[in-house]
Amino acid sequence: MMEAKIRADKEKVISKIDDRLYSSFIEHLGRAVYNGIYEPGHETADDMGFRQDVMNQIREMKVPMVRYPGGNFVSGYCWEDGTGDKEKRPKRMELAWSSVETNEVGIDEFQEWAKRAGTEIMMAVNLGTRGAEEAGNLVEYCNSVTDTYYADMRRKNGFEKPFGIHTWCLGNEMDGPWQIGHKTPLEYARAATEAAKIMKWTDDSIELVACGSSHQNMETFGEWEETVLREAYDHIDYLSLHEYFGNPNNDTPGYLGCSLDMASFINKVVAICDKIKAEKKADKDIHLSFDEWNVWFHSQEQDKKIDKWQVAPPLLEDIYNMEDALVVGCLLNTLINHSDRVKIACLAQLVNVIAPIMTETGGKMWLQTIFYPYMYASRYGKGEALAPEVICDAYAAGGKEAIPYVDASVVWNEKERELTVFAVNRNLKDSVRLELDLTGFKGLKPIEHKVLNHEDLKASNSPDEPEKITPKEGSGVQDSVVTLEPHSYNMLRFFAE
Ligand code: AHR
Repeated sequence: MMEAKIRADKEKVISKIDDRLYSSFIEHLGRAVYNGIYEPGHETADDMGFRQDVMNQIREMKVPMVRYPGGNFVSGYCWEDGTGDKEKRPKRMELAWSSVETNEVGIDEFQEWAKRAGTEIMMAVNLGTRGAEEAGNLVEYCNSVTDTYYADMRRKNGFEKPFGIHTWCLGNEMDGPWQIGHKTPLEYARAATEAAKIMKWTDDSIELVACGSSHQNMETFGEWEETVLREAYDHIDYLSLHEYFGNPNNDTPGYLGCSLDMASFINKVVAICDKIKAEKKADKDIHLSFDEWNVWFHSQEQDKKIDKWQVAPPLLEDIYNMEDALVVGCLLNTLINHSDRVKIACLAQLVNVIAPIMTETGGKMWLQTIFYPYMYASRYGKGEALAPEVICDAYAAGGKEAIPYVDASVVWNEKERELTVFAVNRNLKDSVRLELDLTGFKGLKPIEHKVLNHEDLKASNSPDEPEKITPKEGSGVQDSVVTLEPHSYNMLRFFAE
C-alpha cells in the first residue's frame, strides 16, 4: 500500500471561503431551462411550471448562486423578451445554439425560481449585440426602487419589490470568435468599462465581473486580461476565467492531472491582476470568478447530428463516468485551495446541459457521478480553507512530470465546529494509507467517511441504473489513519470541541 500524509493546521488559513465558490449555471441552452427546471405539464410542476423534483434537489444541495441566462446565449439576447405578458412574448431564432427560443421563461420567472430554489442569481448582460444602455436598463428593472420607466415596468409586470441581484457579468466570452458580437481586447475593454459605469451608477451596491479568457490556450490570453484591467480596473470587482476539461484520447492518468492546469491558469491570472494593480498603484485587489468550469467532451460528436431550430434540443448532454467524478473532485479541491483569490466559481452547468442533474422529459430526474463531489463541497466546504501540506509520491503522465497521487483540500467550519477533508486517490492500482496530521483541534471525532468509487472507471449512472455509482460508507479513520481505495473520491468529516 502506498503511504501519504496530509498536514493541516487550524492557524494556517488560506482564506475564508466565499460561499459563491460553489455556484452553478443555467443557460437558455438545450434542455436546461425548458424540460429541465421548467416543464409545465410535468407531474411535479408547481403553479409556475417549475419541476419541484429538480428544485428540491437544488435546494438540498445548497447551491448559493446560479449564473443566468448565458453563456453564449446572452450575447444575442433581448432581456425585455422575457418579461411581461407571456402571450405577447416573441419567439426568436437563437443564433448561439441554432435553436428556437420561446421566451416562456425570462427574468420575471427565473427570479421566482431562484427564490423557490433558495439560491441567488448571477446575472449576465448582453455586450455582444447590445451595450451599456440596455445593461443599465436591466439593472434598473431588476434592482431599482425609483419611480422611473424600467422600475415601473417591473411593477406593471407584477413585481413591486426589486429582485435585488447583486452579482453581474459584463457579457460572456467576448474574446471568442464563436461569440455573437466577438470583440478585440480593446473593443471589449471599452464596452465593458462604459457598461460598468452605467450599471454601477444605476445601483452602486452591485458587484461586476469582467470577461477574462475563455480558456488559457486562447491566442489573446494575457493580452486580453491586461487590456481589460488597464481600462476597467476601477469599475470592476472580478475577472472571469472559463475552462473545460476532457479525456478525448483516453489517457486516464493524464486526465486525472488536469486540475494542475486549472491551478496554473488561476496563478497566471492572479499574477496579471497583481501586475496591473502595481502599475496603477491601486489599493484594491481584483479577485477571480471561475464562472464556467467542468468536464465537457462526451457530447461533442452526438451534438453535430442534432437538427437546428428546435425548441429545447438535447444539446451538450454529457453522460459522466467515474473518472469524470474524480476530476471534478480534484477541480473542486483546486478552487478551495485558491479561495484567497477565487471568490466565485460556477460549475457549468446545473441541469441537463453538461450537468450533475438530469431529467427525462415527462419522466424522472436522475443524478450523474459528478453530482456527488459537487454536493459534498457545496454542503461541507463552507468556512475557512486550511493550507494542506500533502506529502505523497507523484507520477508522470499527460505531459506533466509530477502529478501527486493524492489531491486534497481541508475546510474548517467554526460555526458547525466541523473539519472536512476532501481527498482523491489518483492511484489507479493501489490503495493509499493516508495519515492525517491535523494540528490545533481539540477532541477531533470522526463523523463520517463517504467514498465514491466503482471498479469500472468508465461506468456511469443512467435513467435505468440511476444508483449504479453513489457514495458508500468508507472504512473510516482509525488513529488518524484512513485508507483511500484506488481511484476513489473521499469526504471525511470530523467534529472538534
Ligand atoms: O457552458 C456552455 C458554453 O460554454 C457557454 O455557453 C459558453 O460560455 C462556453 O463556451
